[in-house]
Amino acid sequence: MVSKKEPGFATKAIHAGFSHDKATGAVMPPIYMASTYAQLSPGHPISKYEYSRTANPTRDVLEANLATLENGRFGLCFASGCAALNTLLQALPSGSHVIISDDVYGGTLRLLSQIFTPMGLHYTQCDMTDINNIEQAINENTQLIWLETPSNPLLKIIDITAVAQLKQQKCPNAWLAVDNTFATPYLQTPLDLGADIVCHSTTKYIGGHSDVIGGALIVNNETLAQKLYFLQNATGSIPSPMDCYLLLRSIKTLHVRMNAHCHNAKTIAKALSSHPKVSRVIYPGLSTHPEHYLATKQMRDFGGMISITLTDGPKAVIPFLKKLKIFTLAESLGGVESLIEHPAVMTHAAIPAEHRKKIGIEDSLIRISVGIEAVDDLLEDLNQAL
Ligand SMILES: Cc1ncc(COP(=O)(O)O)c(C=O)c1O
Repeated sequence: MVSKKEPGFATKAIHAGFSHDKATGAVMPPIYMASTYAQLSPGHPISKYEYSRTANPTRDVLEANLATLENGRFGLCFASGCAALNTLLQALPSGSHVIISDDVYGGTLRLLSQIFTPMGLHYTQCDMTDINNIEQAINENTQLIWLETPSNPLLKIIDITAVAQLKQQKCPNAWLAVDNTFATPYLQTPLDLGADIVCHSTTKYIGGHSDVIGGALIVNNETLAQKLYFLQNATGSIPSPMDCYLLLRSIKTLHVRMNAHCHNAKTIAKALSSHPKVSRVIYPGLSTHPEHYLATKQMRDFGGMISITLTDGPKAVIPFLKKLKIFTLAESLGGVESLIEHPAVMTHAAIPAEHRKKIGIEDSLIRISVGIEAVDDLLEDLNQAL
C-alpha cells in the first residue's frame, strides 16, 4: 500500500530537491561551477541551463529544498539576506508604503530608510505585538507588511495568523512577508499561517556554521515568483554554487541542530532568570515573556536566541563580555558555536540612539546566540563572567 502521509521535516531536509545525480549516481548534488553552458545551435541550449546568473543546477536544488521546507511552491536564493529583501523591495510599485516592526533588524531599516526612501518608498514602523497598531498604519498605498517573529533583538512574537487576516480584510493586494530567520522552517512555517512571502538570512541557522552568507525568498503565488525570478536574474545578486552546496549540506542537520539550540537556550534562560546579576531575561520560552502563550501556539519550540540586561547596567556590559571564554563576541547568530553581542554598539548601531531607546533596545541589552556546545560548559562560562 502506498502511504499518502506527508514526509516528516527531517526526511524533507535530507532529501527534498535531489535524489541522485543522473549522470554519475552521486548521492550528493554536484557543485556546478560553470558560468555558461554549451548550446547545440544558437538559442538551443543542451539543457534548461544557459548562464549561471539566470539558473544554476546546484542553486536549483537549494531553492527546491528550501521551498519544500517552508511548504511553499517557489524558492529563490540570493547572495545575502539583505540581497533577498532588496530584491523584494524592487518588486514593489513606485510610491509604495511598507509597514515594518519597531525593532526590525538594523540592516532592513537601513535599506528602507537610506536606499528606498530616497527613491520614493514610504514606511511606517510600529509595535506589531498590538494588531491595532498595524491596522492604524495601513493606508491606500500599503503594499507590504514585513514582520520578524521572533524579532531581533527583543524577541517579540507577532501573531502571523492575525496579521494575515487583517491584511486580507484591509489591504488584500498587499503582501505579508515574514522574516523567518530566527525561527527557521523547523520551528514555524509562515506560509501555512497566511503569509505570502517568507524571507531568510540563510547566513544564520540554515547555514548554521558561520561560514556562509546567503538569503532566500519563498512564495506560493506564481505571478509574484515570476517577478522575483526576473529581478533575481536582472539584478544578479545570486549566491555562488559553492555557497549553495554549503547550505544544502547544513540543511541536512537543521532539525538536529535546532533541537540542541532550543534545549540549551531554554536551560540557560531558566538559569539566568534567577541569577542576581541579571535584571531581565527575554526568551519566548519563559512564562514571563509577554507573548509566551502565542509562541507556544505558533512555534514548535522557542529557538536559540536570548536577550538579557545586567543588574549593574551598561557599565557592567563590557567587563562581562570580556570575561567570557566560550562565548565569542561577534555579530551574527545561529551557528553551532555560541556568540554574544551588544546590539546598541554592534548589530543595531544603524538605528538612531533615540529610536533604540524608545523601542526598548537599551544600551545595556546583550544578545546571546546559544550554540550547541555542552550546556554545562556554557552555564559555567556565563556564571564565572557574571
Ligand atoms: C533577522 C535578520 N534578517 C535579515 C538579516 C540580513 O541578513 P544578511 O546578513 O545575510 O544579509 C539579518 C542579519 O543579521 C537578520 O538578523
